[in-house]
Amino acid sequence: MKKVTAFVGSARKKHTHDAVCRFLDHLQARGDVECEIVALSDYRLEVCRGCKLCFEKGEEACPLKDDRDTLIAKMVASDGVVFASPNYLFQVSAIMKTFLDRLAFFAHRPRFFGKTFTNIVAQGFPFDSKIGKYLNFAGACLGYKTVGGSHITALEPMTEKEARKVDRVLERHSRRFHQSLMRSNLPAPSFVMLIGFRIGRTTLRLELDDRNFDYRYYRDKGWFDSDYYYPVRLGPLKKAAGSLFDALGRRMARKRTG
Ligand SMILES: Cc1cc2nc3c(=O)[nH]c(=O)nc-3n(C[C@H](O)[C@H](O)[C@H](O)COP(=O)(O)O)c2cc1C
Repeated sequence: MKKVTAFVGSARKKHTHDAVCRFLDHLQARGDVECEIVALSDYRLEVCRGCKLCFEKGEEACPLKDDRDTLIAKMVASDGVVFASPNYLFQVSAIMKTFLDRLAFFAHRPRFFGKTFTNIVAQGFPFDSKIGKYLNFAGACLGYKTVGGSHITALEPMTEKEARKVDRVLERHSRRFHQSLMRSNLPAPSFVMLIGFRIGRTTLRLELDDRNFDYRYYRDKGWFDSDYYYPVRLGPLKKAAGSLFDALGRRMARKRTG
């Protein structure tokens, strides 16, 4: 049985919530899945103050005492997650962004490897898919495998025909997500993720030392010497690109440290 948690970033239980419910119904119908919906507005999440203590001293050093860790525990306990948000002025809602900001340390120290991420966005304007791309990129930075999401056009009132179309989109989406969920594989990284890892870990190694939490984490995980965050076979092109971006990272570090 796989556990899926949907984090919903709307303060009301309307289109985003309804789309998530339909998606999860379709997903459960495919079998071996149990689901939970988490309305972020039911939890206390404070706005990140930008102190960066989570990067430098570890997430326990965060001065904000709220429900962040309860939500993280739900992510850790899940095989797959859905991040769902309404489109508010061409971006995720403030609730969703607050949540993402509080998870930003995972982009330094990703850990959700082998787990599946997707997004659902509800919006009025139909021709806008940037938010889903943004959410999936954030998910990939946290370590997840990502599955293309759904942008739901939710005009009010929604006609029967529109509702059926939304349902078809969510049904297809649930199929893609289910396939990924059932395969707990560790895929080869995209070029973008590989570049991020290699430049990031090289500059970290050369610019910081073991007083820094990220530094100790990378060292203890063996990430200063590995090809990627997890064991994976890189093809010749990615191997060469990896070495090139290590070299670029060394150059960048030399420039900054003199
Ligand atoms: C503050 C605010 C800003 C919005 N901005 C956009 C927008 O930029 N583009 C868009 O397509 N829809 C926009 N909408 C419409 C919502 O995305 C749409 O109504 C969505 O269904 C709301 O989700 P909900 O029903 O879960 O609250 C906006 C709605 C609000 C309340």
